Amino acid sequence: MKVPLLDLAAQLETIRDEVVPALMEVVESQRFIMGDQVRRLEEGVARHCGVEHAIACASGTDALLLSLKTLDLRPGDEVITSTFTFFATAGAIANAGGTPVFVDIEPGTFNLDLAAVEEAITPRTRAIVPVHLYGQMVPMERLLPLADRHGLAVVEDCAQAIGARRLIDGAWQQAGRLGTTGAFSFFPSKNLGGWGDGGMIVTRDVARAERLGKLRVHGGAKQYHHEEVGTNSRLDTLQAAVLLAKLPHLDAWNAARREHARLYAEGLEGVDGVTPPPTDRANEHIFHQYTIRARRRDDLKEHLTRAGAGCAVYYPKCLHLQPCFAPLGYRDGQLPEAERASLEVLSLPVYPELTAAQRDYVIESVRGFYG
Ligand SMILES: Cc1ncc(COP(=O)(O)O)c(C=O)c1O
Repeated sequence: MKVPLLDLAAQLETIRDEVVPALMEVVESQRFIMGDQVRRLEEGVARHCGVEHAIACASGTDALLLSLKTLDLRPGDEVITSTFTFFATAGAIANAGGTPVFVDIEPGTFNLDLAAVEEAITPRTRAIVPVHLYGQMVPMERLLPLADRHGLAVVEDCAQAIGARRLIDGAWQQAGRLGTTGAFSFFPSKNLGGWGDGGMIVTRDVARAERLGKLRVHGGAKQYHHEEVGTNSRLDTLQAAVLLAKLPHLDAWNAARREHARLYAEGLEGVDGVTPPPTDRANEHIFHQYTIRARRRDDLKEHLTRAGAGCAVYYPKCLHLQPCFAPLGYRDGQLPEAERASLEVLSLPVYPELTAAQRDYVIESVRGFYG
């Protein structure tokens, strides 16, 4: 049997009749730039997230970068984030003119260790970028008061967490809703993926929303009038049409991922050598990735690959140890939980269209390895 890590072709079969006509509508209109679908997608995502404002842009990376640009960072300003995330999180901080300050993770959820965040705050700290990794949220009810006490902005990296929620004071709060801004990615593999690159910023702050709306079109609301230097980071109308057609499916897709995760946990129970991913009790996880810890991870990965069961390591090298950040002076062993995770994690197929037989095959293949 072959089980890909992700099967977008299987998803296409379920939505072709909705997406293709939506694309053809854009083609017929020939309105490829900032067509009506972009505005409708912004409204749809804002509603889904429970915020007033959403600003579409060209990628998740740009959603982070533009968010950070609104903080007007100056050389030497520090932005605290996780070392265990996709490169874009820290790349955006550097490109916005800030200095990334990497902190360790909490070993259960793989998310930022908030005690480490507190210790990392200095007089130069301007912001924190929590990453809701693999699809479950950082405890925002603890992070936000900490940020408030120190006057720091909070840019949520929600690239892997669209639709994730956390129960805070008896109310569900969506990823992206509580921060200064929330940055989403529509990279094709994401839980809500386009047919190309795309991103979205959400915020409850009207002034920031207006500024972001300008920054994505060269810094001016009026054509040929530029209040500041922005960039070209529009979302294509074609991508907005794809995403608008897919958005109504998002909650069901996320629920299907959760059900796969539940059955993986059942199927992997008692396997000596495997730790299934724990979900924080206050979180509704959306399982962008189903990521286990595995003893002899690299051997297991090879075994699964040979068996035709897709798997991947997110992420094999922490950001504080990347060559481009060598001038920041981090050492091997400095952020031990993240470094350990980079040696132990393995993500298994968890896409909504995965069949029970495929899931069972992955479970059996893992069990077979540990004998
Ligand atoms: C945690 C995280 N941050 C940022 C990004 C960047 O998003 P994009 O690829 O849309 O630029 C991604 C996804 O690729 C991601 O997983």
